[in-house]
Amino acid sequence: MEYRKFNFDRPVSLFGIGCMRLPVVEKGESTVIDEAEALRMIHYGIEHGVNYLDTAYTYHQGNSELLVGKALKDGYREKVFLATKLPVWAVNQYSDMERLLDEQLKKLQTDYIDFYLLHALNKERWNKMESLRVMEFMQKAKEKGKIRYISFSFHDNRDAFHEIIDSFDWDMCQIQMNIMDMNEQATVEGLKYAGTKNIPVVIMEPLKGGRLANSVTPEIKAIWDQADVKRTPVEWAFRWLYNFPEVLTILSGVSNMEQLKDNLRIFADAKANCMDEEELSLVEQVRQVYLNKTKVPCTNCEYCLPCPQGVSIPRIFSLVNDASMYDDETVPRHEYQNIVVKNKQDAAQCVACGQCEAACPQHIPIIEKLEECHTYLMKK
Ligand SMILES: NC(=O)c1ccc[n+]([C@@H]2O[C@H](COP(=O)([O-])OP(=O)(O)OC[C@H]3O[C@@H](n4cnc5c(N)ncnc54)[C@H](OP(=O)(O)O)[C@@H]3O)[C@@H](O)[C@H]2O)c1
Repeated sequence: MEYRKFNFDRPVSLFGIGCMRLPVVEKGESTVIDEAEALRMIHYGIEHGVNYLDTAYTYHQGNSELLVGKALKDGYREKVFLATKLPVWAVNQYSDMERLLDEQLKKLQTDYIDFYLLHALNKERWNKMESLRVMEFMQKAKEKGKIRYISFSFHDNRDAFHEIIDSFDWDMCQIQMNIMDMNEQATVEGLKYAGTKNIPVVIMEPLKGGRLANSVTPEIKAIWDQADVKRTPVEWAFRWLYNFPEVLTILSGVSNMEQLKDNLRIFADAKANCMDEEELSLVEQVRQVYLNKTKVPCTNCEYCLPCPQGVSIPRIFSLVNDASMYDDETVPRHEYQNIVVKNKQDAAQCVACGQCEAACPQHIPIIEKLEECHTYLMKK
């Protein structure tokens, strides 16, 4: 496996284990981790070269950090870079940050965290955290030796990414990227921009949460099989990412030992700048097959925003498109009903003022589409 050093004290393995989707005792019940299996997997990964573990305060409803703490006993702690995240949405005053970090250190049974990330930053959260003097807190935590590298993970658009990455001399940033999310979120341009600033990038959701492994039609398989060297869709998805020299490590939330072993095999000969034009064209063809299945021709340009009623227009379209592209309604419906509706950003808030339609470069009949999407996404 390749290791990438950047400015850190030692090199980081190109494959890192994401501890958000550890094996669980009962399918669909994320709280109760299958502890024996998860420990076996993490130890196996470390013994086979993985030296980066990513967890967070909220993963497995708080139990991921506890599990990782157990996994890192008996000498494993020193072998890895440990990354965890400050749940910024739970911070309302300066002292919350101190309390949360101390709680995390205790749960993780360690004196220090290597990469401490501000979790899931977007523009709004960043503004709030800046006003709470978060960077002063992070610098002090570093001086005290509680954290080593100051970082953030990101979920918003390219403009917000630029604003945040330019606001501080970060040690690392973590973005969502995969063959379908090239122009979404931070975007490939954002990844390269981070590279120009010498800020290494950690990739999350490389398989789009598993969809790029699980939704492979015969048409997509036939495209991949045009290559001289045959690879699985999972191999192609990882290959497209490790091809970028700006990437520090690629996290995958392996859910069982078989996937872990498969990913270790895939990363065994991973190298930057390994893809030629022909291979890149296969990626583009596969992307187009997925994109052709979209229901609404939204490009996520966000010209329709802000909606005066707060409707999250591109997000709603993207949920419906995801359901169609990856043949899976469960995840988009769950996100819509449990997050978008709860935050009052759903299509039912629309009063048909038409401001969005006048701004949409794709000329989408947004009002009508929003109604259709709402009916579809509200189904159980
Ligand atoms: N900071 C943030 O805001 C944030 C957000 C998201 C993720 N993350 C971090 O990033 C990590 C990676 O993201 P992710 O978990 O979404 O990664 P991912 O690799 O996109 O998805 C993981 C899923 O892909 C499938 N998979 C993995 N390896 C496979 C293989 N070899 N063959 C077939 N299927 C395979 C499994 O799905 P099934 O078994 O279910 O099919 C697995 O649960 C997370 O674990 C977490 O640590 C951070």
